[in-house]
Amino acid sequence: MKVNSLKISGFRNIEELFIEPIPGVNVIYGENAQGKTNLLESIWLFTGCKSFRGAKDSELTGFEKDFARVDIGFFAKNRNQKSSVVISDKRRAELNGVKLKTTSALAGEFCAVVFSPEHLSLVKAGPAERRKFLDTALCQLRPKYAEILSKYRICVNERNSLLRDIEYHSELYDTLEIWDEQVAVNGAILTSQRMKYVERLREASKEIYEGLSSGAERFDIKYISSAGELSPDMELFEIKNSLRTALKASFKEDIASKTTSAGAHRDDLFIGINGISARNFGSQGQQRSSALALKLGEAQIITDFTGEKPVALLDDVMSELDVNRQDYILNHIDSQQVFITCCEPSSVLRMCDGKAIHIKAGGVIPE
Ligand SMILES: Nc1ncnc2c1ncn2[C@@H]1O[C@H](COP(=O)(O)OP(=O)(O)O)[C@@H](O)[C@H]1O
Ligand SMILES: [Mg+2]
Repeated sequence: MKVNSLKISGFRNIEELFIEPIPGVNVIYGENAQGKTNLLESIWLFTGCKSFRGAKDSELTGFEKDFARVDIGFFAKNRNQKSSVVISDKRRAELNGVKLKTTSALAGEFCAVVFSPEHLSLVKAGPAERRKFLDTALCQLRPKYAEILSKYRICVNERNSLLRDIEYHSELYDTLEIWDEQVAVNGAILTSQRMKYVERLREASKEIYEGLSSGAERFDIKYISSAGELSPDMELFEIKNSLRTALKASFKEDIASKTTSAGAHRDDLFIGINGISARNFGSQGQQRSSALALKLGEAQIITDFTGEKPVALLDDVMSELDVNRQDYILNHIDSQQVFITCCEPSSVLRMCDGKAIHIKAGGVIPE
């Protein structure tokens, strides 16, 4: 996967910009608040996912602009392709001249992974961040996953609103059974896919963490289901049955709290270093390496799965790592196209051949 050209207009502070990135390392540099992260965010649009900064679409259009438009030329599946995304009242996308129904249909056509200092929250924050990490990867890998996820959320919301009404309407108990089944059916698909994905991620990220820490520490991850001990080898119906049992077991508690306390929306990913929780006991450096190992592991799985190396977007991460770790990362992703943002390009360019692109006030400064 390679971006050959990128044209941006009216996106955040970037009024007009055109670049032709090289297949290797592109170093996007400049002072603070000039538009470097915005440039990465515009490439990220083509994964079909929401902004990696958690921004709403309305925040992506430049102030006083009616719409934002981004065009890319990229190489994937052995051919040159082009795509555009327009954001106004809603998102619209085209791929090779054909209008797409939704921008999420771009998932699977264009792949990228992003690393930013905020990804530390993957290790430090609550379970929701880690579920989002798994879900985002699975949405890119399995087109149906996003659909099941949204169905699942609807089912949990329906069940929750039923839990609120049930104390006044005991006839609703039968309806609850129906929603329990729906929550379990959809939840089982999510849980099963997440567990399988975690198995693969475990292999990949273990090896990367070892490389990052020069073999000094042992890294491990495990999917923790709120419905008890489940394993990736279980059949879908077995997982579904376990989820139903968990829903039944927490039924009284759920009525009291008016929320659904067990299920895929309550699961977590345990991240361990030398057998103890990186979240609770890891140092800042260990947490940062854990997040990187997970994200680089994600990139590797996308590569294995699609046969295509995703574009790597590294936002401001190099400055926080020591030289050994910087070197390990640049070596690890050497055959991938990379966009790295930083204030000072020289330290990155010392380690690899790359193209420096100077960004100022939302535009490119010619060298
Ligand atoms: N919708 C928008 N319209 C115009 N400017 C924006 C918009 N959103 C953010 N900005 C501006 O973009 C700049 C930040 O860009 P960013 O890419 O985060 O900087 P950096 O180069 O430090 O990565 C800020 O000056 C901010 O005001
Ligand atoms: Mg930035």
